[in-house]
Amino acid sequence: MCGIVGYIGLNDSKEILLKGLEKLEYRGYDSAGIALQNEDGVTVFKEKGRIADLRTIVDDNVEGSIGIGHTRWATHGAPSKVNAHPHRSTTERFTLVHNGVIENYSQLKREYLSSVELTSETDTEIIVQLIETFVEQGLSTEEAFQKALKELKGSYAIALLDKELEGTIFVAKNKSPLLVGLGDDFNVVASDAMAMLQVTDQFVELMDKEMVLVTKEDVIIKNLDGETMTRAPYTAELDASDIEKGTYPHYMLKEIDEQPLVMRKIIQAYQNEMGDLTIDHGVLNAVLAADRIYIVACGTSYHAGLVGKEFLEKTAKIPTEVHVASEFVYNMPLLSENPLFIFISQSGETADSRAVLVRVKELGHPALTLTNVAGSTLSREANHTLLLHAGPEIAVASTKAYTAQIAVLSILSEVAGKVKGFDMEFDLVQELGIVATAMEALTDDKEAFEQIARDFLSTTRNAFFIGRSLDYHVVQEAALKLKEISYIQAEGFAGGELKHGTIALIEDGTPVLALATQENVNLSIRGNVKEVAARGAHTCTIAMKGLEEEGDSYVIPHVHELLSPLVSVVPTQLISYYASLHRGCDVDKPRNLAKSVTVE
Ligand code: F6R
Repeated sequence: MCGIVGYIGLNDSKEILLKGLEKLEYRGYDSAGIALQNEDGVTVFKEKGRIADLRTIVDDNVEGSIGIGHTRWATHGAPSKVNAHPHRSTTERFTLVHNGVIENYSQLKREYLSSVELTSETDTEIIVQLIETFVEQGLSTEEAFQKALKELKGSYAIALLDKELEGTIFVAKNKSPLLVGLGDDFNVVASDAMAMLQVTDQFVELMDKEMVLVTKEDVIIKNLDGETMTRAPYTAELDASDIEKGTYPHYMLKEIDEQPLVMRKIIQAYQNEMGDLTIDHGVLNAVLAADRIYIVACGTSYHAGLVGKEFLEKTAKIPTEVHVASEFVYNMPLLSENPLFIFISQSGETADSRAVLVRVKELGHPALTLTNVAGSTLSREANHTLLLHAGPEIAVASTKAYTAQIAVLSILSEVAGKVKGFDMEFDLVQELGIVATAMEALTDDKEAFEQIARDFLSTTRNAFFIGRSLDYHVVQEAALKLKEISYIQAEGFAGGELKHGTIALIEDGTPVLALATQENVNLSIRGNVKEVAARGAHTCTIAMKGLEEEGDSYVIPHVHELLSPLVSVVPTQLISYYASLHRGCDVDKPRNLAKSVTVE
């Protein structure tokens, strides 16, 4: 979490940095700051709140053709102006921004900085003070930077300015993402290419434990032993319009609406010239060699994994377990003899998932990452990658990545199943096409979901979602979506489980939203709806065509049962969206959250 940017060139960097930070706000938005360097020195502007708040205090008259910036998601120290980045050393010679967590900061403070008065509660201030201390001991800035980096334990992406050395941004990375962007007579630094697409599409990837001296003409990459490395740039295949809201009021609504298109893009991306679905041979061989698959993910991606397990077991007949990454890393189950690990991650940067990947690699097991971001850490470090082709997802609440993850898992399972000689009971290309059309019908019917949100969720403090079988997986995602953007306490339950305790919470008017898309459990879920209604619940049932009953709140188009999560989730996304909107919440940037969770 946290986003950093930097610019060094011929022009004033202020607007480039601020625009870059706006594109990185998804990484954290509790405070922000920029530092501008010119021949007179370095000026820092920082503020609690959003980039919009920062803009109000930046002095238009201060210019700097060198600058760094930061948008924060607090880890050490509350969100406040004093804890906001950039941080400065005591003499104000050095100014630094940082994304990551320095695990040994207390020890470094004791060892090197006992006489230094710190002004903030952040681990970041330790880094900038350490560099100043080493310079005071006689090292050059580069040597001090290198020495400090060698001392740091944890994750970092860093950009540093030296007031006495106009013309260089010192940059370093370990575990936290960081790129250097190349231009004519300028270079830039960013946590994500999106931030600097405004000025370049040429980027150089940095590896862990590398430092970089960025001048306006050069980018010199070194390892921590000082050896120079060379690396060719790549072209960021991002369309600048993909990262704009266009006419939409929120990214979330735009991303919900993009889902039919994403389904069609995925079908195309995984089709060969004959129109058959195909998966890279390396990936397929890894899947076929596995005696058990372990899906590891967090949050919404974990929920997509729950659905993915159904495909892998039902169509490819490979036993599959799904695990929450933050638990798996500390409490690994007994593994099978030939496991394959599948990491599902929209961002490809989630620290909890990466910690498992590191452990899996140590154990020598193969890993496949499903991600939306080519070149992301989880993609680079796994043996194989399958891309989601969902396009940038900017709203903090994940929507199109969830359906893309499920669609790609369905294709992987179907191709593996076919190679194993199993008869597929349906044509997946055709069925995914039907899914895309069904999604369109739902996104075209927004008023209906706005009304459901108004009727059921505008004033409530809590809500329950229930479902059975595949619907149970979807209601867990539905509940997560609702709580994260509307702050309604929501839980997703297996319909049959409610009566084993939770039904005690049902009282007059408690909203209970049920999904009914699975024929074999339709009667049972209907029974569960009646049980809660009898206890006063305000019930809303969303059923699939063919299973509907009188009194249902909404009927979604019919799709193949196994693919129903791709469609049944859409009403729940829209209901959450409108609940958030009606309650006056910040839909795209809910409190306390960040899009890319790069700390464990
Ligand atoms: C919820 C949401 C999160 C993410 C989770 C994992 O809407 O977006 O729960 O799904 O933080 O992120 P990725 O998929 O980037 O690993």
